[in-house]
Amino acid sequence: MAVSHWLFNSVLFLLPFVTHVSAQQQGCFVNNNKPSVYENNPPGYVVTTIVVEPNFTVMIDPTSPDVSFFTIQGSELQLNRSVDYEKDTLLLVYLICQNTAGQSDSLEILVTILNMNDNSPVFKQTNLTEVVPEDKKVNTTIVAREVLSASDADLDTIFYELTTIVPGTDGYFAIKGVNNPEIYLQKALDYEKFKLTTLLLYARDRPAGNTDTTNTATATINIFIEQADTKSPWFLPCTFINTDNNICISSPYIGRVNLSEMSTEPLILEPGPIYAVDPDYTLNEKIVYSIVGGNTDKVFSVDANTGNLTMNKAATSPNSYLLQVMATQVNNVQKYSIVSVEIKVINKSDYPPYFENRIYNGTVFVGLGPRSFVFQAGDPSSPLMITATDEDFPNKVNPNIEYYIKNSTDFIATKDGLILTNAMLQSPGTVTIKAVGKDMVSLQEASTVIVVEVILAEVVTSSDKIHTAQDMAILGGTLAALLLIALVFLGLMIYKQYGKPVKYLVRKKFSKDISGGYQNQSYKEDEQPDVSTKQHETSENGSVQWMTPVQEQSALSSPSSNAEEIGSLPQASIASTIMSDHGEKEEEVEEETEHEKEVKSILKTDRHVADDGYKAVWFKTDVDPDAGEKVEVIEDNAADGDDDSDQDLQENEEEEEEEDYDKDDHRRGLGVSFA
Ligand SMILES: *[C@@H]1O[C@H](CO)[C@@H](O)[C@H](O)[C@H]1NC(C)=O
Ligand SMILES: *[C@@H]1O[C@H](CO)[C@@H](O)[C@H](O)[C@H]1NC(C)=O
Ligand SMILES: *[C@@H]1O[C@H](CO)[C@@H](O)[C@H](O)[C@H]1NC(C)=O
Ligand SMILES: *[C@@H]1O[C@H](CO)[C@@H](O)[C@H](O)[C@H]1NC(C)=O
Ligand SMILES: *[C@@H]1O[C@H](CO)[C@@H](O)[C@H](O)[C@H]1NC(C)=O
Ligand SMILES: *[C@@H]1O[C@H](CO)[C@@H](O)[C@H](O)[C@H]1NC(C)=O
Repeated sequence: MAVSHWLFNSVLFLLPFVTHVSAQQQGCFVNNNKPSVYENNPPGYVVTTIVVEPNFTVMIDPTSPDVSFFTIQGSELQLNRSVDYEKDTLLLVYLICQNTAGQSDSLEILVTILNMNDNSPVFKQTNLTEVVPEDKKVNTTIVAREVLSASDADLDTIFYELTTIVPGTDGYFAIKGVNNPEIYLQKALDYEKFKLTTLLLYARDRPAGNTDTTNTATATINIFIEQADTKSPWFLPCTFINTDNNICISSPYIGRVNLSEMSTEPLILEPGPIYAVDPDYTLNEKIVYSIVGGNTDKVFSVDANTGNLTMNKAATSPNSYLLQVMATQVNNVQKYSIVSVEIKVINKSDYPPYFENRIYNGTVFVGLGPRSFVFQAGDPSSPLMITATDEDFPNKVNPNIEYYIKNSTDFIATKDGLILTNAMLQSPGTVTIKAVGKDMVSLQEASTVIVVEVILAEVVTSSDKIHTAQDMAILGGTLAALLLIALVFLGLMIYKQYGKPVKYLVRKKFSKDISGGYQNQSYKEDEQPDVSTKQHETSENGSVQWMTPVQEQSALSSPSSNAEEIGSLPQASIASTIMSDHGEKEEEVEEETEHEKEVKSILKTDRHVADDGYKAVWFKTDVDPDAGEKVEVIEDNAADGDDDSDQDLQENEEEEEEEDYDKDDHRRGLGVSFA
């Protein structure tokens, strides 16, 4: 009642103004008969205020189209319930205004409902699965736009975004545009890379980055890749040549046949039988084989199904065959690969090679550098050499045999059968290794066992122990001599500038400095074929003093550290150096030369290689364990060496040679004292 009383007063107050404005005698009026209201209004929302003149009453016309939405509370026209723009965008209601005298009027109120972003986009399907062949062309559609378009009740424009949740599958699928959700293939597929992926398609009713309320819907698309017949056969074994691992190249197959002999069995090939596979392994198309080239006189056939290579007739010439064998998919002849098959024609080998010695015994010292010789046990002057014989050859010497150590990395065999260390052996002991001689033509092989005694190099330790003040004095003298030589050498180098005659000398000195001792010795050998003389020279030249033991080691090992040199000249050179350094008597050396068959070649090669005038006695004294026992020998050698150096002097007539001489003397003294 209080409210209506207040209302009555205010109406009275407003009346003259209202009457004037409306200029009508309607009895009722509203301040806005076309209001706008946001959807989702709370119930009781005031649409407008009704002013009722005295004696008039107002009511909602029950025949109004949207009567159910409205109610009048006091002077307020209210929305009785929430309105959804998506259902009703306009509400029309009539108010009936009548007085007691029966005068009646109608008032039309048109309420415009305003839209709010109150709806999410909606996909027709939120989960779908596609199977895509691996060879699907780039840019083709994977999922059509209609299937993936989302709708939005607010009729918003939808913005789409596509992502993948499977790592490594990014970039293969894309949508056509931010407003076009059609999924197409952006990058060629590869079954090897991934076989399935899961895409997430987001639909948003506001563009990305918009700060308005944004509703998002998500669709999940599972894509299964199906292998297609994309690759040609691969011959096995093969090696991938690209990072994608989808190109695999095989090496040629290699086989052997006997000259003038037809094998009735399939040929044994390396690295294995002719065999090709379809890399599209889920399809695994059938493959057939054929020879498409190189089959002179049709000597060979290949089994179409198995790839087995057989002979139709004997090979009549020693020339190798280079066959081209093709593997073709039966379902598509354009899917093929070609491989080379080399068939070597060899002399028939009736007998395999064999070692006459079932066991070889060798010795080697602890602490030697790699590529040091293993010597024959009991004959420390002869390098251990293993030899396989072959009855197929008149002299039983098969030039095609090469030697290997089978089960040790501490030793290696040269192609000629010399046994070398491959590492510095740290501790004494007995090592048993297996060695193999293999005929590289027939591939037949023989094996033997080598028992290597690894022993301590006593001389080094004993000399360490015996170091005395006297030794030191001698050493000091030696060093002084060294300095002197260096000065002379320097002088020579300068002198070299001024005259050719001196040049030869200088060069010789120079090479002494730089090159390994073994070469020096060989050089001398060349000059003086007499082995015994040579031997003395070695001793003498060994007195060159500016080479420290360490240098000697490196001089010894450096040439042989070149793996390709193994078994060739430098090795042999080392061998003879060691022998001569050993300080053996001349007779022994002559004995060596008498073993022409085995050792002669080494000596020869020495001569070939050696060029420089340098010899290393240091090596002998330091490294040779027996040197201690043979002090006298060394002295003899030194004396002989003096003679030889006299010869050298005569040959080279150099003043500094005299200097060397002095050094030699010092050197000898040193050697003695060490001993
Ligand atoms: C308004 O809503 C209430 C509750 O929902 C209802 O009881 C009433 O009848 C409604 N009024 C009209 C006029 O529809
Ligand atoms: C795919 O379509 C794009 C744009 O039309 C074009 O640039 C591209 O070359 C097409 N790629 C292929 C493989 O057809
Ligand atoms: C060649 O002859 C050797 C020795 O008789 C035999 O072992 C080998 O199987 C033959 N090779 C072929 C391909 O027949
Ligand atoms: C011959 O073919 C069969 C079947 O593929 C295979 O198992 C066999 O190893 C082949 N033999 C040779 C010598 O290649
Ligand atoms: C095969 O034997 C012949 C004669 O016996 C010989 O001349 C030829 O050098 C040999 N070939 C090989 C590779 O050993
Ligand atoms: C190497 O093989 C031989 C013979 O099979 C065996 O006696 C020896 O113990 C093996 N040596 C090593 C180091 O494995």
